[in-house]
Amino acid sequence: MKKTVQFSSAPVTFYFDVAFAKLRDVLDPASAIILTDENIFSKHKKYLKEFQVIVMPAGEANKTQKTVDHIILQLIEAGADRNTTLIGLGGGVVTDITGYVAGIYMRGISFGFVPTTILAMVDAAIGGKNGIDVGVYKNIAGLIRQPSFIWYDYNLLSTLPNEEWINGFAEVIKHACIKDRKMFVALQQQKLSFWKRDRVSLAKLIRQNVDIKVKVVQQDEFEKADRKLLNFGHTFGHAIENLYGIPHGHSISIGMGIACKISEKLAGFKETESILQLLKQYGLPPSFAFDGGATMKVMQADKKKQGQAIHFILLEKIGKALIKPVSFADLSEFTA
Ligand SMILES: NC(=O)c1ccc[n+]([C@@H]2O[C@H](COP(=O)([O-])OP(=O)(O)OC[C@H]3O[C@@H](n4cnc5c(N)ncnc54)[C@H](O)[C@@H]3O)[C@@H](O)[C@H]2O)c1
Repeated sequence: MKKTVQFSSAPVTFYFDVAFAKLRDVLDPASAIILTDENIFSKHKKYLKEFQVIVMPAGEANKTQKTVDHIILQLIEAGADRNTTLIGLGGGVVTDITGYVAGIYMRGISFGFVPTTILAMVDAAIGGKNGIDVGVYKNIAGLIRQPSFIWYDYNLLSTLPNEEWINGFAEVIKHACIKDRKMFVALQQQKLSFWKRDRVSLAKLIRQNVDIKVKVVQQDEFEKADRKLLNFGHTFGHAIENLYGIPHGHSISIGMGIACKISEKLAGFKETESILQLLKQYGLPPSFAFDGGATMKVMQADKKKQGQAIHFILLEKIGKALIKPVSFADLSEFTA
């Protein structure tokens, strides 16, 4: 199914539940270059025969300027010009770096995504934020620019390791926490194994999550206000992820646990236990013994910081989030 969504800067065409092989029907392989990572390439290279392919090393540690330079050199070698479309086939690392490279190569070429992880399908591929990490600072360099298309082929998930399913469900739970109580209840009633088994239900769940993210981004593409809600769990989560190198979904889960505690104190939130329980049900850690001082130091460089406070995402209740400036002094109480 094809659906075009209008963001304030540009339209994006979503293709849902269409085999990757059909991509050639809408895009001439001769004018496209695929960027993917070594894991995905090794599992899905049979689909890539008609395309020029650039393969990057897998993992967050490679979402860096060094990799960007390497990709740009390969684009030059492949003869990529302003008419080339760069296609990111992969998880959030590949989609983020694809959008970033496409945004700067020859001052901008068009690009599209074929997300291959749950996380990229429900979150990273949507919204046009593309960036790289510098040192311990996640996504500190980047730009906001929309892909021309996002292509969903759920069959690509057949090779996704269980650990990555768990990671992706952290963002699904995040969406439920900030925007959709009904989805939260639906998640409570199932286990991850159900979604892995039942393709129809999974497709529906992914569409619901796409709709949540699209709606938030449509209202605030350049993150002046409401788009910040999507950062629920991410302030502590990103800091912990980069300090300890634990997986993104696990870090966000820990961040959501801390955000619940802060919400209890500053927004009268009373449903922390339900959220911690759901995180555990999906194999995610609700807490972690981290170094408070080091974490605070990383958060001081967070993009949501303003002076001595940070725009923090809190919950009033499940399905209803709010943004509140919280001082670093107040936050330090939760890092002790
Ligand atoms: N731009 C945004 O708005 C946004 C939003 C959320 C997250 N992100 C970014 O997304 C990244 C995390 O994304 P991720 O969790 O998808 O990580 P990832 O891209 O590192 O993928 C996780 C692992 O799974 C492997 N993999 C991916 N698809 C596979 C498949 N189908 N079969 C087998 N292996 C597969 C990858 O090689 C990798 O080892 C972070 O860098 C985060 O900052 C961006």
